[in-house]
Amino acid sequence: MRQLEGTKCSFVFCMGISIIICSFIYLRTRMPTELKPPQPPSCRSFSNECKAFLADTEKGAEWIPSDCKVESYILNSRLQCSNLTRDLHFITRPLSREEEESPLAFIVTVHKELELFVRLLRAIYMPQNVYCIHVDAKAPRDYQAAVRKLVSCFQNTFLSSRSETVAYAGFSRLQADLNCMKDLAKSKIGWRKVVNLCGQDFPVMSNLQLVQYMQSKEWRDRNMTPGVKQPVSMSHRTQLQYREIVGSHVAQKGLGLKKGPAPHNLKVYFGTAYYALTRAFVDFVLKSPIAHDLLEWSKDTFSPDEHYWVTLNHIKDAPGSHIDGGWAGDIRAIKWRDHEGRTHNGCKGRYVRDICIYGVDDLPWIINRNSMFANKFESNTFPEALDCLEQWHRNKVLNQATVPIEPSWLLATRSNSSSSSSYFNSSAGALNRC
Ligand SMILES: *[C@@H]1O[C@H](CO)[C@@H](O)[C@H](O)[C@H]1NC(C)=O
Ligand SMILES: *[C@@H]1O[C@H](CO)[C@@H](O)[C@H](O)[C@H]1NC(C)=O
Ligand SMILES: *[C@@H]1O[C@H](CO)[C@@H](O)[C@H](O)[C@H]1NC(C)=O
Repeated sequence: MRQLEGTKCSFVFCMGISIIICSFIYLRTRMPTELKPPQPPSCRSFSNECKAFLADTEKGAEWIPSDCKVESYILNSRLQCSNLTRDLHFITRPLSREEEESPLAFIVTVHKELELFVRLLRAIYMPQNVYCIHVDAKAPRDYQAAVRKLVSCFQNTFLSSRSETVAYAGFSRLQADLNCMKDLAKSKIGWRKVVNLCGQDFPVMSNLQLVQYMQSKEWRDRNMTPGVKQPVSMSHRTQLQYREIVGSHVAQKGLGLKKGPAPHNLKVYFGTAYYALTRAFVDFVLKSPIAHDLLEWSKDTFSPDEHYWVTLNHIKDAPGSHIDGGWAGDIRAIKWRDHEGRTHNGCKGRYVRDICIYGVDDLPWIINRNSMFANKFESNTFPEALDCLEQWHRNKVLNQATVPIEPSWLLATRSNSSSSSSYFNSSAGALNRC
């Protein structure tokens, strides 16, 4: 009897404890997740490898990063936009007449890594351009809120009016771009070219160089969609039917269900998902029945963003089409694992899905290639690479400026303050000094 009592007691005791634990867990998950800003990392100084890129004519002066609070700043502050643009070193005036007269449009699709996004945006941001940001519908609430907060500080920067739940290699990825394109087509800003980026990209060219490249004689009236006739090894992508598992991945339908040929006798091309398109071409994409039919046909294909743009850009009557463009157009520096020894001499960071996450020793290759953008960066694994490229890029941007430089545009301060005032030449004629 007493033994029974004992068992009963421990049972009740266990029940009690369980209830307490469960309630605790319930309350914890019910509570709105507080925005816990990460501890601001101590300001890293530039690595020795980096210093070679930041060297300038005046000896004895060193760049000291003064900015190491990007993410916590956005999460923390009761945000006042005038403070934000200053404290995060956004450039607030066009840096040259040439850039002002050729505004660019950007589509940026993001889903994580707030720090990277803020640094990407401030690197490509210019007040004459226009920016459509597509945040993945499955991104955490607080991430979405932070991006919205940041974007609301700029008149020329907005969130896409529709958000997709993006799956890798899925139609949703293409739809995200199209959502932004619809918004950008309505923009009052007279943008000349639109480029698309993802959150792990970073610019190599300055805005001035982007304008000069895309408005060069070769490209002014042409779309850049590097790609070729679909190789046989890729034909399954559009000959078999696929379906998208929402927010996850893409799988074959059945045991290899066949698809019909592309509409309008279109020959399918294969290329990169990244482009630089003219405004007239974007209107064509949004209005032409051919573009519409190809889009419908692409819904059950694999990775349609890698055939859609390049296929349309091979239609003779499409505005700015480039029938024999091949791989021309240096949009992105990427180190593919299987190109090792051919286009590059190995990844100095690490490979993820056969693409290099850059380390600081990859910078000489990136800078030497001088593509429009480089991909990919991670701020937690190889932070020095991004720190270095960012600083190198900002120096170049400010050096090319033909207007006086605001002190808040500097990302780093110089150890020798006596020389800092004369470093950035604020008089005209400083173009292309880098
Ligand atoms: C700072 O710069 C001045 C002149 O540009 C130079 O004479 C001086 O030695 C420098 N000081 C340091 C600490 O580098
Ligand atoms: C904005 O900056 C001003 C001047 O630096 C400062 O006094 C003010 O407290 C800042 N506001 C916020 C909300 O941080
Ligand atoms: C700034 O530019 C002017 C005129 O182009 C030039 O004479 C001067 O030497 C430059 N100063 C520096 C510090 O580069």
